[in-house]
Amino acid sequence: MKTVRLGLLGCGTVGGGVVRLLRENASYLAARVGAPLEVARVLVRDPAKDRVADLDRALLTTNPDDIFGDASIDVIVELMGGVTPARSYVERAIDSKRSVVTANKMLLAVHGPDLVERAQAAGVDLAFEGSVGGGIPVIRVLREAMAGDWIESLSGIVNGTCNFVLTRMQKDGLSFDDALREAQEKGYAEADPGLDVDGHDAAHKLVVLAMLAFGARVEHERVPTEGIRAIEPIDHRFAARFGFAIKHLGIGRDHGTAVELRVHPALVPLDTTLANVSGVLNAISLQGRALGPCLLSGRGAGDMPTAVSVVADIVDVAVARINGASGLKIRGVQLSKRPLLPIDDIESRYYLRFVVFDRPGVLARITGALGDHNVSIEQMVQEGGGNSTGTPVQVVLLTHEAKERDVRRALAEVGACDFVASSTRVLRIHG
Ligand code: NAP
Ligand code: HSE
Repeated sequence: MKTVRLGLLGCGTVGGGVVRLLRENASYLAARVGAPLEVARVLVRDPAKDRVADLDRALLTTNPDDIFGDASIDVIVELMGGVTPARSYVERAIDSKRSVVTANKMLLAVHGPDLVERAQAAGVDLAFEGSVGGGIPVIRVLREAMAGDWIESLSGIVNGTCNFVLTRMQKDGLSFDDALREAQEKGYAEADPGLDVDGHDAAHKLVVLAMLAFGARVEHERVPTEGIRAIEPIDHRFAARFGFAIKHLGIGRDHGTAVELRVHPALVPLDTTLANVSGVLNAISLQGRALGPCLLSGRGAGDMPTAVSVVADIVDVAVARINGASGLKIRGVQLSKRPLLPIDDIESRYYLRFVVFDRPGVLARITGALGDHNVSIEQMVQEGGGNSTGTPVQVVLLTHEAKERDVRRALAEVGACDFVASSTRVLRIHG
């Protein structure tokens, strides 16, 4: 039985988990694949660093040629992150007819369609279950289980760090900085945590999901993207008062010609499953035309959950290689350029928190501006200060369904008024 030899590019959080899982489940995996899986070489930046105990340090190298120049290496597992040099390494692997397993959503969001076409032409696999939802098998569900259905929309929590930070702020009163530090210590955050908290990681994942769900090739930098830095404890408090939790969401919908993709924090009703997906858990809801809703949930980041997805891909591409069937993972993937629906054209309910000086006529001006732009108010509260103290008050409004363009125009009008003490917080309401 010939061993399947793996070349690992990167051995940090996820790579460490993969090494550990391959070691712990070695005999079971060998039986499943029909051949032992062996880590042949491991590319890193700093060979002196502490690593997972299961790793034989003699396998470490800083020279990519030790991997690409070794013809006995069958499969390349890219767990470095980023675009450069990961892209050139993945291309080199494909061009040398080796299947690739990657968890690199940034690389896939930027160059995914080209890499898919390259792998299709070379007749090798490009597998990326670990790139979205950590241990949740959402890529498999889209590619296999729902292959016969038409995906109309998808939405959910796709960044574990954001969900962890929001949960710790909301439930435990932690500051943003402390919660983020904790997420980093647990191995949930990207090497640059700004990718998480500014929403880019979720946007990358949404672009990957849109490839499989809608066959869409979109420019990732055009996806409307908002992060969670601006959410304040007072927003969590008001959200709860109105019966909502604040979650960071990725939302996609197939509109026929255009696709709607957006990433932003949103108010989610407390009595929904999504509102109760806490900490590092992710949840993705897929809406199939025939199936209806399908909700997938599980640990969305961290070493072992992600390793489960990566090792499952390794098993698949190893089995395919042994059986001369490489390339099946992406054989049916067909992507076409799709325009993005402008965010101004979306319709939603809104949470608007105004910070204003409490003077006669202020509420009338705010509600008047909204009314003039067809934005109808559903609920309203005012809290704090008072005109005798001179300190600003919080005025929070929930709207009925309105066009984003109309809301923005009304807010621009209000923003120009001298009673406004600081910028208005705008959050969409989902569900
Ligand atoms: P990480 O802990 O920062 O590990 C990155 C690894 O790649 C390190 O071993 C690093 O070497 C190596 N590396 C980076 N640049 C390199 C270069 N130019 N040359 C050689 N080696 C290089 O990152 P991670 O959290 O494991 O994430 C890896 C990938 O998985 C990323 O694409 C990430 O987005 C994705 N992902 C992460 C998670 C998660 O929960 N962390 C979940 C899903 C997907 P040194 O160790 O020597 O620095
Ligand atoms: N940084 C990512 C997250 C890792 O927090 O979701 C999982 O993709």
